[in-house]
Amino acid sequence: MTPDLMDAGTEIRRAYEERRATQTGKTESGGRSAGYGRLLKVGEPDFAHGVALYLDDITVSFDGFKALNNLSLTINVGELRCIIGPNGAGKTTMMDCITGKTRPDAGKAFFGSTIDLLRLSEPEIAQIGIGRKFQKPTVYEPLSVFENLELALKADRRVRASLFHRLSGEQMDRIAEVLALIHLKDDAQREAGLLSHGQKQWLEIGMLLMQDPKLLLLDEPVAGMTDEETERTAELFLSLEGKHSLVVVEHDMSFVDQLTEGRKTVTVLHEGSVLAEGLLSEVQANEKVVEVYLGR
Ligand SMILES: Nc1ncnc2c1ncn2[C@@H]1O[C@H](COP(=O)(O)OP(=O)(O)O)[C@@H](O)[C@H]1O
Ligand SMILES: [Mg+2]
Repeated sequence: MTPDLMDAGTEIRRAYEERRATQTGKTESGGRSAGYGRLLKVGEPDFAHGVALYLDDITVSFDGFKALNNLSLTINVGELRCIIGPNGAGKTTMMDCITGKTRPDAGKAFFGSTIDLLRLSEPEIAQIGIGRKFQKPTVYEPLSVFENLELALKADRRVRASLFHRLSGEQMDRIAEVLALIHLKDDAQREAGLLSHGQKQWLEIGMLLMQDPKLLLLDEPVAGMTDEETERTAELFLSLEGKHSLVVVEHDMSFVDQLTEGRKTVTVLHEGSVLAEGLLSEVQANEKVVEVYLGR
């Protein structure tokens, strides 16, 4: 072997060792560095470029009416992005496109830098790590809080094999962790039907979290909640930021204010495209925004 080839071999080996170290080094979904130098499995999203979701020129028409009109939007890995806009702006339709419920007429939608969402079915999109919370909570009312989380865990296709098995220690830990996150530790054995509206919403968010989604889409999550529940929900989302990417559609401006902490970007949708983007204070002072939305 020539010295050159030996060097090349050492270099390849070193790169391999480095990748292995990163891979076993518990990067989870966290942070922008997640994905760097990792060996990706086929079909696994690639977040190495720091982008969690990329929408480009998406158009959706219903009988000629454009619910989305050349919508472009980028959400970074670990980012918490609030989306506001008047009724009919296209916010829910945007989530329908991301989750495969609605197929756009034109445009691109990528999860990470490699996964083309427009080629996947709704269940496939859920399985690769995009979780969606609808407005109305859909928990199993006769079951306990704990059982609801257990069901969510077992509904995950990746752990389907263990459906009839007892929970592993790791799974018990995960349920305990989520119970603490959603403030329902003391209610674990309570029937879900007996929870308050806000608690049911948290339980449903907990059920989504059991599947450890990389991207969470939350459509008007605090509608119908008390002020205190709304504040706690903001705290919950802030604690998820970084580990997950979150897209939150909401009308409640004090909630948006709490989530953005005076420093995060807010996107304003209007007539199916982005009207403005910036700090909440900036978009609230934007004349175009005031005209279509906030001034009403
Ligand atoms: N399935 C559908 N068929 C026809 N029109 C629809 C459909 N879904 C949404 N729309 C229309 O598209 C526009 C955007 O709706 P939507 O995305 O629900 O807005 P938002 O969530 O911002 O209030 C609205 O004018 C709505 O009436
Ligand atoms: Mg909506």
